[in-house]
Amino acid sequence: MQLEGKVALVTGASTGIGGAIALAYGAAGAKVTIDYLHRQEEAQQICQKIGSEKATAIQADVSKLQDITRMVQRTVETFGRLDIMVNNAGIEVPTPFLEVTEAQWDRQLAVDLKGPFFMAQAAARQMVKQRKGKIINISSVHEDRPMPGNAPYCAAKGGLRMLTRTLADELAPYQINVVGIGPGAIATPINQKTLSDPQKVQTLLNSIPLGRIGKPEDVAALAVWLASDASDYVTGTTFFIDGGLMVQAGSL
Ligand code: BGC
Repeated sequence: MQLEGKVALVTGASTGIGGAIALAYGAAGAKVTIDYLHRQEEAQQICQKIGSEKATAIQADVSKLQDITRMVQRTVETFGRLDIMVNNAGIEVPTPFLEVTEAQWDRQLAVDLKGPFFMAQAAARQMVKQRKGKIINISSVHEDRPMPGNAPYCAAKGGLRMLTRTLADELAPYQINVVGIGPGAIATPINQKTLSDPQKVQTLLNSIPLGRIGKPEDVAALAVWLASDASDYVTGTTFFIDGGLMVQAGSL
């Protein structure tokens, strides 16, 4: 029970990587707030699996500061503290650069960068009082690796990379660790379209040395360790979990 006595908040936790992290945190002994935007039923199911006294589902749009503030306040009211904040909620609408609209850009950055920024701020204000905390930003291999046809997503994740590093430095005096997780191709709703196209799957597999698409549980296992006291000396870096995708990039 690596997370016994800890309280976690996971955004975008009704499905995919966020859902797997919420379940793994619950199994490791944490109390968990499950943030969701649209998928209330799935969020409730995750709560039930963790146990209703140990989990609560809150509907909040991470692109709205008001929603963020309310969700962090309610977490602290319900569970008494906040030890672990996972910025997982994200969107992705691959579009050729020449066709990206202002609205698309604004929404991408609002969910994938403004959201984590203000979630981290609200969480850190509580963690500073506790003189300890873990902020985990779910980024992507594309915080570093270009992906043509997905420029707004890459720009948002690149921004998240620098947010992780800057906050790690600024919050270190309070013993708040800030780290990134950079997943590669993981089977989740965000890339359902790609994964239902056999040709695209083959192209992806060709660039993954371990030869398989990842599972949300692969990422959750890392997220448990990064949330636990075992990783107290880790801050300001991104852990890629990608079956080797990043090491292969650019080789002959
Ligand atoms: C994206 C996926 C993509 C993967 C590997 C992830 O960040 O969400 O769409 O397949 O990176 O390129």
